[in-house]
Amino acid sequence: MVYEASSKSEALTNVPRHVAIIMDGNGRWARNRNKPRRAGHRAGVKSVRASVEMAVQKGIKYLTLFAFSSENWSRPKEEVSSLMSLFIEALRREVDELHRNNVRLKFVGALGELNSGLRDRIRQSELRTAGNTGLCLTVAIAYGGRWDIVEASKRVAQKVADGQLRVGDIDDAEFSAGLQLSSIPDPDLLIRTGGEQRISNFLLWNLAYAELWFTDVLWPEFDENIFNEALSFYAGKQRRFGHTGDQIEAVEC
Ligand code: IPE
Ligand code: IPE
Ligand code: MG
Repeated sequence: MVYEASSKSEALTNVPRHVAIIMDGNGRWARNRNKPRRAGHRAGVKSVRASVEMAVQKGIKYLTLFAFSSENWSRPKEEVSSLMSLFIEALRREVDELHRNNVRLKFVGALGELNSGLRDRIRQSELRTAGNTGLCLTVAIAYGGRWDIVEASKRVAQKVADGQLRVGDIDDAEFSAGLQLSSIPDPDLLIRTGGEQRISNFLLWNLAYAELWFTDVLWPEFDENIFNEALSFYAGKQRRFGHTGDQIEAVEC
């Protein structure tokens, strides 16, 4: 299937360039149906597919999905291993279609902590889609915002130790070059499903100026209406980045 721009989305104005999503609520979705948590995660994969398709249709350039946090390693062993199997299965089933739709797939996080089967799949899918020029889909696995910042700190510390960088020359740009999302713009809009209004150690640095939108809808129920609600919320925001509203309006005119 080839994802096409829908007529509905053509009417959208002020579409965010980069949308990041904390996909939460799979477990509760399953519990509400007396199903095991893994059934919720499986249902969540369908929402991933739908959200990617919608992002392409709406002309969003970057979509970043939080799939597994550094802290999620603390879940029961069976849940962690069923998630890892699901990631492998989803990659096996979805990469062809992503590739056909010109999607470029990238993974961020402490990928060295993953099992070698999943790491291989990740590497293959990144290589396969590396030349694509459409949606840039980033999946955060074994990712934590604090871990990301610590890793970036090690990079600048090493450069200083090697005499390649002076402490006084460390600035935002130099530091953020070592972050996992260094090659793409910061998220404009963060969506979190599942009712919680927290960041849960997602992109701590990169979300500095994101518009934040929360919904009680559980991730397996995420659909176009919900996505459109988030996008309308975003379209109504004046992003000031510390300036006054008058300054922004003067530039807009
Ligand atoms: C999000 O859903 C998926 C992952 C964190 C892997 P949850 O599994 O956190 O679902 P709830 O929050 O328990 O409902
Ligand atoms: C955040 O969800 C992580 C992902 C969606 C991958 P959690 O369910 O782990 O977050 P908390 O524990 O409720 O903050
Ligand atoms: Mg949760």
